[in-house]
This record gives sequence, C-alpha cells and structure tokens, in this order.
Amino acid sequence: MLAEAERRAYLEALEVDVWTLRGSAADEKPITADDDSVQDSEIVSWSELREKVSSCTLCSLHRTRTQTVFGVGSESADWMIIGEAPGAEEDRRGEPFVGRAGKLLDEMLRAVGLARDSVFIVNLLKCRPPNNRDPTVDEAALCRAYLDRQIALLSPKLILVVGRIAAQHLLETDAPLGRLRGRKHYLNDGKLPVVVTYHPAYLLRSPTQKRKAWQDLCLARQIMSELAA
Ligand code: URA
Repeated sequence: MLAEAERRAYLEALEVDVWTLRGSAADEKPITADDDSVQDSEIVSWSELREKVSSCTLCSLHRTRTQTVFGVGSESADWMIIGEAPGAEEDRRGEPFVGRAGKLLDEMLRAVGLARDSVFIVNLLKCRPPNNRDPTVDEAALCRAYLDRQIALLSPKLILVVGRIAAQHLLETDAPLGRLRGRKHYLNDGKLPVVVTYHPAYLLRSPTQKRKAWQDLCLARQIMSELAA
C-alpha cells in the first residue's frame, strides 16, 4: 500500500493536481492533489466509506454508471478477492462478480472450501468503465484510496487478485500475469500475503488455463494453513 505522501506524489506525477472535469454540471468540482475527499485517512468505518464511494464523482465514470459497486461479503473475512471493475450486470445489480465470470469465481472459491459470503469481494474500480474497456491509469489511481481503505478496514489474512490489470495495479508492476501468478507477493511491509491468478472471464475463454488457476488457489490455501498453524 502506498503511504499518503507517496500517493499524493503519484497523483501529482499523473498531473491530476488540478483536474477539472469537462462540462458545466454543477455537481462536478475541480479535483486537486490536496483534495482529501478520497485521501481521507479519517474514514474509519465501513458505513462512512460506503457513503463516500456511493457519492464519488472523482472521475468521469460517475456520469455513465448506474450505481457504484462497493463490494460484498463478510466484514470479518480472512480472504479478500480483488477483481478489476464492474461489468454491465454488476453495474445493474450493484454487486461485484454476479455475471458468468462471477459464477466461475464462486466455483473456484468453493473448490477450496470457501463460500462466497465468507470472503470479501471487491474491484479495483467501483464504477463500470463504458463498454467494459480497461480502467485508465487515472481512474485506477483515483479509486485506489477506496481500495486501500477497504483493505485497512477488513485487515484480511490474504488477498487473492484475479486478472492482470488488478494485479499490476495493486503490486505496482508491469510484469505479465504469467510471471505474477504461482508465487507469493506481499503488501504492508511483508505482512499481507497476496496471490495472483487468472481472471475468471479469461478462464471462460481459455479453460485449459484452469489447471494453473487451481494451482494458484492451492497456493493461497496453503499460505492460509501455514498462517493458522
Ligand atoms: N469482472 C471483474 O473484474 N469484476 C466484476 O465485478 C465483474 C467482472
């Protein structure tokens, strides 16, 4: 996780220090690197964070979303699952991973003995990018503070990241997924293990890769058993 100062420097490097949304809608305000509406380290409760996310207008995705997709699951979960961004079905229902990829994710979790409601499932982005395009660097950077706060509030024992985009962003690397999966990574100064695997939408298109995804899930389960020992 980036420290607050690093995040601000990151936003400045992205030249979003003074970023005015196009158009003249009254609800759109300039965003500055000093704007603490998203950086706010004082957000201490889930309800406060949910409220912040649901009214977020930090990037242009708020104009096209039906609703924000905060995340779902147990607020005392040991496992946190991080995906990329809501798709059409998720945008409509306000819940992550409810489409075909979501059904496969549920099966993957069940295969290692986890019910959907026993983990916490979130996305890197809380709003749907139009036409399911990839998140932009700016969108991901602006939304990252919400994800960081979710991680801090949940304090999971392990993070399972699905897909290249979420993995690269979370781990701040441009390494390909093939090099990120199959091994342990860490956040929080080595305290929080992270396992990367294929996105279930990719596995639907490339079912022969399910064997490797299974290996990744077994690795995650093994890490959890070691932590419990
Ligand atoms: N893909 C994702 O990464 N997240 C969702 O919520 C749905 C599909």
